[in-house]
This record gives sequence, C-alpha cells and structure tokens, in this order.
Amino acid sequence: MATENNALNLSQGFPEFPVSQELIDLVYRNMQIGHNQYAPMPGLPILREAIAGKIQHIGGVAINADSEITVTVGAAEAIFSSIMALVGKGDEVIVLEPAYDCYIPAIELAGATPVPIPLNQPDFSPNWQLIRESITSNTKMLMINYPHNPSGAILKPEDIVELKQLLEDYPELMLLSDEVYEHIIFDGKEHLSVLKDVFLASRSVVVYSFGKTFHATGWKIGYVVAPEAIMHEIRKVHQYNCFTVNTPTQFAIAEYLQNENNYLSLNDMYEKKRDFFANAVSASKFKVVPSYGTYFQILSYDEVSDLPDMEFAEKLTREYGLASIPVSAFYSNKKDDHLLRFCFAKGEDTLQKAADILCRI
Ligand SMILES: Cc1ncc(COP(=O)(O)O)c(C=O)c1O
Repeated sequence: MATENNALNLSQGFPEFPVSQELIDLVYRNMQIGHNQYAPMPGLPILREAIAGKIQHIGGVAINADSEITVTVGAAEAIFSSIMALVGKGDEVIVLEPAYDCYIPAIELAGATPVPIPLNQPDFSPNWQLIRESITSNTKMLMINYPHNPSGAILKPEDIVELKQLLEDYPELMLLSDEVYEHIIFDGKEHLSVLKDVFLASRSVVVYSFGKTFHATGWKIGYVVAPEAIMHEIRKVHQYNCFTVNTPTQFAIAEYLQNENNYLSLNDMYEKKRDFFANAVSASKFKVVPSYGTYFQILSYDEVSDLPDMEFAEKLTREYGLASIPVSAFYSNKKDDHLLRFCFAKGEDTLQKAADILCRI
C-alpha cells in the first residue's frame, strides 16, 4: 500500500542507510578468492568461533562453538527450525503478544497449539502471573522477545528473577528467546540476554540476526544458540530445511565481528534517531510510547481519531502519504489500543518528513 500510494514507508522494519563498505568489500573479496561453495551444515567453524567469542566478550556464558551454535538463514529460519524440532502435536507454546508474525504460523505448522498471552499495558512487560496461570501439563515452550518488536520494551532485572523462578518451578519448560535487537538498546541500559545466566542458558534456545545488527536484512543471515542436546535436534531440521547458509557472507562476518565497534556502536546511532523522531513528533497530537530498544517507535493516536487502528493506518497511508503498522496486527485477537508502529531506522530527512505529516494531522 505504501508503494501504491507513493507514501513514506515507516512500516516494515528495515534500515534505509547503507551496509558498511568494509563489510561489502569483505564479502566481495571472499567471493573473489573462491569461497563460493557449500559451507558446513552448522555454519563455518571460523564464524561459529567468532560468535562464541562475541557472546563471551559482551558478558555471556561460555558457549561451545562446535556443538551449541548453528548459523541460519536469518533469525526467522532459526525460529522455524527450532520450533519444528522441539514441539509437536499435543504441545502448547506460550506466545506473548503483541508478537512478531512468524511465531504462531511456525507453531501451527509443527502441529502444536499456540497460547497467546497479552503483555502488560502500557509498558509491554511480561505478565508473569498470567503466564503461570496459562501453564498446563502440555506446555512445552515459552517464547519471549526483548528488546521487543513492536513496542521497544526491554527486560528488567526483576523479569530475569521471575523467569528463573518459572523455569525452576517447571523443569520441562523450554524458553525460546528472540534477541535479534540485542545491540539496539538505549539510555545506557544493558540488554539482559538469557545467555548471561548459566541456568537460563541451559534451558534456552536463543536466536539472533546479523541482518538487524549490520543493516543488511536482505542478506538473511543469523544464528541460533542452544545446549548441545537441543541443538542436535534443531540441526536435524536445519539440515533438510536449507542445509547451510551462503559461504562468502559467513567468512566476511567472521572477520567483521573481530572489531567490537561494528556491533557496539549501534546503540548510539539508533538512540539519536529515536530522539530525533520522538522530538520531531512531540509537537503533534500523537503520543510517544517510550521506546527503550529496537528501531521501532509506537505512537498512540487516541487524541486524533476514534477509528480502529487498521483503518487509521490505511487512512494515514492513502490520505497523508505515511505508512505505519497498526499494532493490532501483532495480536491473534486483533486487540486494538489505538497504537501504530513506526520504524525509525531511516535518515533524518525521512524522519522529519514523517513527523511533519503527523504534526499536520
Ligand atoms: C522480533 C523479530 N524476530 C525475528 C526477525 C527475523 O529476523 P531475520 O530477518 O534475521 O530473519 C525479525 C525481523 O523483523 C524480528 O523483528
């Protein structure tokens, strides 16, 4: 619809600015020197070593690069292969909503039953009591995603305490933690990865995306980390799902990861964009819902219109030339709180134009 209406597109979550020339050169060089054939099924050892090194470098637990990391076709394949491997008919999987759109279809394809549980409002934190109440003898997995798409909420230390207690109380429960926005977190806060705790790491499948971290969503490359026995199962699906991921990019990223600045500089860069956009819309009637991570900003239009969010987002696209995502799209019951998600991974020009439109409404 954004294309049809020639609208500014702040809907889909992809960066507008270029991939680092150094990283592009590394991919090109690896193609030129002949790294163009199949990589090993779990990913190049050199890349898995670099990933394990990075996890430890940022305060995570020791991960065995050989048996506990698999390079995947983006985080989406990591999620799909993990769910296919680990749940099936008769199993229930708790999904916290609003949720990224690939979770529930994967659970259903695996033959399991998704159990959607709403996050608290207005801060999008997990409702631990509701999560506990929804656990049955069939509950196999809990899925979490922080920093959170679409809200930008992050995990707090008290959430980690609750999470640990929950997994201690339910020894059969597995956690799937989607941490694709691990390096986009603001205000000097720390991303509380489940891989920073030995106990949580021993019970978790954790997924990541180089597409998000290196502004290269079109490259579709990510990875999954899990304890060896669980990874053994995930690899059985990965092997026949896609077998492996393109080789030159793996070599290039292995080298690029050696410089911590290449991933640690993201926080500042995106924080400036968040502040620029929030500041530019502050003169409008739209209300900023605080974003603490990711490259998404939720705005409430409560004071602007009574329309349902889907209709309002369509109107905004068609009549005002600005595309966003209605947050009801992230709920299986289409819960509508009059919220729209805007992606601020754009240049200041684009963000200013979008804010000007919002200020006119
Ligand atoms: C929360 C979340 N998980 C997973 C993905 C998929 O990541 P990838 O593009 O690496 O498959 C996305 C992409 O938007 C996302 O927002």
